[in-house]
Amino acid sequence: MADILSKFRLDGKVAVVTGGAKGLGREHVFTLANAGADVAFCDLLEDVGKETLAEVAKTGRKVYFQKVNVRDSGEIEDFLENVKKNLGVPDILVNNAARPSEGVALETVSDDLWREIIDTNLSSMFYFGKRVAKMMMEAGKGGSIINIASINAFVISNIFPRHNVTYCVAKAAIAQLTKGFACEWAKYNIRANAIAPGYIMTDQTKATAAISEAYERNLNMTPMHRYGEIDELAGALVYLASDASTFTTGTTLLVDGGYTSW
Ligand SMILES: NC(=O)c1ccc[n+]([C@@H]2O[C@H](COP(=O)([O-])OP(=O)(O)OC[C@H]3O[C@@H](n4cnc5c(N)ncnc54)[C@H](O)[C@@H]3O)[C@@H](O)[C@H]2O)c1
Repeated sequence: MADILSKFRLDGKVAVVTGGAKGLGREHVFTLANAGADVAFCDLLEDVGKETLAEVAKTGRKVYFQKVNVRDSGEIEDFLENVKKNLGVPDILVNNAARPSEGVALETVSDDLWREIIDTNLSSMFYFGKRVAKMMMEAGKGGSIINIASINAFVISNIFPRHNVTYCVAKAAIAQLTKGFACEWAKYNIRANAIAPGYIMTDQTKATAAISEAYERNLNMTPMHRYGEIDELAGALVYLASDASTFTTGTTLLVDGGYTSW
């Protein structure tokens, strides 16, 4: 029987991360490279992406970056073609890119803003998922897809005077999309799971954290009474990406300091 820790290694694997220039996506890129994978990532932010590329290259892994809008099918296809040329067919996809919550009351969310949030935060995971799954199927090698959801797949945040219902709807649908990927593609040996993080301090959560009453409420709603550190999703990510989780598919793994337990 293989040593359990060796099953977590990602040597020889190719990983793709969306929204990998900064924040948690950048951390995912480093985590996967440090676990042994070659990593391609994309982002809207070209300069920040190039800086991340230079840093990750120091791990000694092959790394590839391209500016991509995850809402644009043509840009996604061009990126994935380049990933295949430069690193090979992906074994792992981390659908991470998302734009922040709307911040405004639901009745004032314009139809265009609703569409933008659903398209960026939910549909992009379908656009990437089906294309990467097809590449995996054609290569006949299976793989692991990890969609980044949120505690907002389960609850609406109590962050008044800010609001995030549209964001929450997208995150809840990600959990169901993940089950859809898992059920349809299990026969191709493609697993799909989601990670549902609680509050972790990044550019996305700064706007709420700057409002002291909302920040205190978030702490008080979290049994561990703190925000997560940026590296605290790494264990869940490597578990789901690797052969340590070969019978795990369709699940949404909460990493939230207990937030949804109360
Ligand atoms: N930070 C948290 O507390 C938290 C909690 C739960 C879930 N999440 C999720 O984790 C993921 C990362 O969040 P983060 O906190 O690092 O946010 P972030 O805003 O710091 O990073 C998001 C990244 O996605 C990129 N991006 C946004 N729109 C894009 C587009 N159209 N095309 C390409 N790239 C695009 C951004 O440029 C950025 O690099 C998101 O899915 C977010 O919803 C975060």
